[in-house]
Amino acid sequence: MKKADYGIDAPGVIRNLAFGSLGAAAAAVLGFHLLHQPAFAVSMIWVAGFLGFEVIAMLWTSLKGKRLAARKLVDLAELNGSERVLDVGCGRGLLLIEAAKRLKGGRAVGLDIWNQEDLSGNGPEATRTNLEAEGASDRAELVDGNAMAMPFPDGSFEVVVSSLCLHNLYQAQDRAKALAEIVRVLKPGGRAVIQDFRHTAVYANTLREAGLEAKRHLVNPLLMFPPTWRVVAKKTKDE
Ligand SMILES: C[S@@+](CC[C@H](N)C(=O)[O-])C[C@H]1O[C@@H](n2cnc3c(N)ncnc32)[C@H](O)[C@@H]1O
Repeated sequence: MKKADYGIDAPGVIRNLAFGSLGAAAAAVLGFHLLHQPAFAVSMIWVAGFLGFEVIAMLWTSLKGKRLAARKLVDLAELNGSERVLDVGCGRGLLLIEAAKRLKGGRAVGLDIWNQEDLSGNGPEATRTNLEAEGASDRAELVDGNAMAMPFPDGSFEVVVSSLCLHNLYQAQDRAKALAEIVRVLKPGGRAVIQDFRHTAVYANTLREAGLEAKRHLVNPLLMFPPTWRVVAKKTKDE
């Protein structure tokens, strides 16, 4: 059986950074040997090193760090095994499968538009293959749908999780719509854990304004690059 493959996040960004790093390294060589401009060459070495570091850190995140961070994220959802869990922007199933593996009577639902730019090899087939590989197919289902208009009735889930999805909504009002949807589909007493590398202070405030208790903390920076934050929120029973 093949091992699960959760893809490379933002593959186009990594490719552009890699080209930038190689270009700067080439400029450094030219600067030293042809132009005889050592100050220019040294600054190009710094640029090449900085961009190269970003490439390595982002690859590390996709290949290993995000898997470890996903376990911690799902720990924070405090599953008892009977919940209905929604993964918003599930991609190839990283959180979905981590949650499904911990369920006994419950069900994990992955919602996505399966955008290829956000994740390499993204698509429901890849997610189904990963579910099979991890032996979690019987506790999970996939739904084609947009985070801004989720195809679920109010209060459908005890737990909502999400990683690196909402920043892909470029307009603030679109992210606000997605957060309002998360609040809507959560049952009273339900929990949401949302991880992202941008806008998380706003996510926490928006959830508080909607009446949830919400705390925000930095994810272990050795696991995720760019530095990523988590919002852990609870919808109180009388919401
Ligand atoms: C960087 S990937 C992360 C995937 C997965 N959560 C993970 O951590 O491996 C972002 C995911 O969000 C999805 N996405 C982006 N915009 C979305 C939207 N409006 N509604 C639902 N999913 C969306 C993309 O298709 C992609 O699968």
